[in-house]
Amino acid sequence: MATRSTVILGTGSYAPEHVLTNDHISKMVETSDEWIRSRSGIRERRIAAPNEATSDLAVQAGRRALADARLSAADIDLLVVATMTPDHPMPSAACVIQHKLGLPTTAACFDLNAACSGFIYALDTACALVGSGRYHKALVIGAEKLSSFVDWSDRGTCMLFGDGAGAAVIGTSKTPGVGLLGTRLGALGEDTHLLYVPAGGSRMPTSAKTFANGDHFVKMKGKEVFKLAVRVMEEAARDILEQHGLSANQIGLVIPHQANLRIIEAIAQYLELPVERFFVNLDRYGNTSAASIPIAMDEALRLGRIKPGDITLLVAFGAGLTYGSALIRW
Ligand code: UT7
Repeated sequence: MATRSTVILGTGSYAPEHVLTNDHISKMVETSDEWIRSRSGIRERRIAAPNEATSDLAVQAGRRALADARLSAADIDLLVVATMTPDHPMPSAACVIQHKLGLPTTAACFDLNAACSGFIYALDTACALVGSGRYHKALVIGAEKLSSFVDWSDRGTCMLFGDGAGAAVIGTSKTPGVGLLGTRLGALGEDTHLLYVPAGGSRMPTSAKTFANGDHFVKMKGKEVFKLAVRVMEEAARDILEQHGLSANQIGLVIPHQANLRIIEAIAQYLELPVERFFVNLDRYGNTSAASIPIAMDEALRLGRIKPGDITLLVAFGAGLTYGSALIRW
């Protein structure tokens, strides 16, 4: 149990400059703007430059979050980076980011891979460590360069994903009942095969054969993932509301993982909430995995969609399959 309230002191986000539209994608694979928009809600996504890696996106978002929190790099003693697309298999992206941001060498720095649920997992971890008093100020970043892992000849996946980063600075407050009220995390490990990158790990090391087969790219059974996503996100949302004695109507804004507008609409329907209560920006970014919720949260705050005292529900699912929900009172 956290002994103090853990609060978000500032947020920031960054999306690479290059915009890749559906029309561009329809020149690469057999698809159309109409198909992609009607099946997913996505219009465009951002793609990092060849010389930009995940850490470069993360650093931009991290700097903005620190500025928003009016803190400097020297104040941070914990860095948790949610990513499944680190710059290298080793070391962690967190260590690269620590150096680029100029965080103290006494800061604990590590990556956490929970795919698209990564930011909620990282937020929970950082808040637990800061709430216990072991650390004082944490920087939590969700950052991905998925464009490096997407098969640009697979029309079933390539139109979904985008690159980006979002960050939050975590500290404490003496006011009880504010900040992170709770989380509900879990995983369905039996379904790893529905969404994964087969090669490049210890199971199937990279070789000329894996390269020729395209085994280093994301493989997804879209329909199955879709159905599970709706079910587990709805359950994760219901569970956490019940745990805290809240009804869906008391939630000011839901910030769901931005994977597919039809998934979000189905969850809204099951929770009997108007879809307007859900923050949606996937039309402009596509699915940025661990970056999707922190980018959306940063935009929602900047657009005034979250007011002091509001309760926000975060809810996500991703490869693993992982899922998570979180409640934050501002
Ligand atoms: O963070 C977790 C990440 N993953 C997700 O959230 C993905 C969840 N899944 C989805 O979002 C959806 O399954 C997709 C958007 C990927 C696909 O939509 P769908 O309605 O499930 O389509 P489908 O895969 O059932 O395909 C329907 C048809 C197929 O043709 P046939 O077999 O009916 O002739 C596909 O070959 O649409 C075809 N198709 C396409 N057509 C044009 C698949 N991708 C495309 C495409 N353009 N890009």
